[in-house]
Amino acid sequence: MYVCLCHGVTDKQIETAIDNGAETMKSLATELKVGTQCGKCCQCAKRVLNNKLMQI
Ligand code: FES
Repeated sequence: MYVCLCHGVTDKQIETAIDNGAETMKSLATELKVGTQCGKCCQCAKRVLNNKLMQI
């Protein structure tokens, strides 16, 4: 599923970034540019981040 349409980032890409050490929205923004354009994906990206972090 696409989370960030502006940059074409999927939930799987976000999960992979988290597996590789990303733990904050800031690091996702740096790595994948999530939320750096219109910002509409921030809430959804945060949900993916929190869900994934809870599984670790
Ligand atoms: Fe992610 Fe616009 S959808 S910045």
